[in-house]
Amino acid sequence: MSRNNAASRPTRADQADRHVLYQKAVQAPDFEVEFLDRIFRELRGRKPLSLKEDFCGTAYLSSEWVKSDPERTAVGVDIDADTLAWGRQHNLEAAGSDVAARVTLLEKDVREVTEPKVDIVCAFNFSYCLLEKRDELRHYFEQARASLKDDGLLFLDLFGGTECETEAEEETELEDEGATYIWEQVSFNPIDHHMECAIHFEFDDGSRLDNAFTYAWRLWSIPEIRELLEEAGFSKTRIYWERFEEAGDDSDEMEGTGEYYETEEAENQESWLVYIVAEK
Ligand SMILES: C[S@@+](CC[C@H](N)C(=O)[O-])C[C@H]1O[C@@H](n2cnc3c(N)ncnc32)[C@H](O)[C@@H]1O
Repeated sequence: MSRNNAASRPTRADQADRHVLYQKAVQAPDFEVEFLDRIFRELRGRKPLSLKEDFCGTAYLSSEWVKSDPERTAVGVDIDADTLAWGRQHNLEAAGSDVAARVTLLEKDVREVTEPKVDIVCAFNFSYCLLEKRDELRHYFEQARASLKDDGLLFLDLFGGTECETEAEEETELEDEGATYIWEQVSFNPIDHHMECAIHFEFDDGSRLDNAFTYAWRLWSIPEIRELLEEAGFSKTRIYWERFEEAGDDSDEMEGTGEYYETEEAENQESWLVYIVAEK
């Protein structure tokens, strides 16, 4: 083969679908469906049926939610038409007409949607941190609360820890993909907590998909979020912290178990991810 042909052959990065890679790298809808179901049953004593996934992106969680039970329905809200179109094709229509019929996608700002009333509203992967001013975030929480049935719950996640307020890069191999997921904390301003982050992918042919996704948001703290939820009218908030255990090798490293328990006190770690649950 001539050098020219080799040079014009498309790389893995040229051929990659960034939404497929994102879903594999970042999302865990099986775990989240189980978590939403368990906590709702524990706190409300009944099976949750209706979900609104705010900032839904490709509606991956909504599709897994309706697949988990034939009675379940979901509404996915996102402002980006192209991302919703990808999700409709790959996550909803690909799963069959029954799944597609039970998920409604709305191309709207999450702050504009308060109907239909649902059992659960969720905003995952820190998307609500895009709202950087107290007034903006309180208003979003008020709208999320207005979307809930009387016994409804709002679920959020949040990350933090001693290594979050700094520039850093973390690499994770994506199994069966021949690719590496790279999470980059590009900048952090300690004065206003504005943070810029980026997701890149590197492939086994050496090619890269840089800035596949970029984020500019505020790194909120848990007490700030709880205070704003209370100001928005939520009656109670609960924090679910991940149980950690020794890594099992000879190091002193601790590793997450994926098991979350409710607590009001925890030892800080280099990095953590919590779930915040707010009762209407
Ligand atoms: C970090 S992604 C989250 C995707 C998915 N929820 C997840 O868990 O990975 C953020 C999404 O929020 C959407 N978005 C940003 N601002 C929004 C707004 N005000 N209203 C609705 N969607 C918004 C973007 O289009 C993007 O798809």
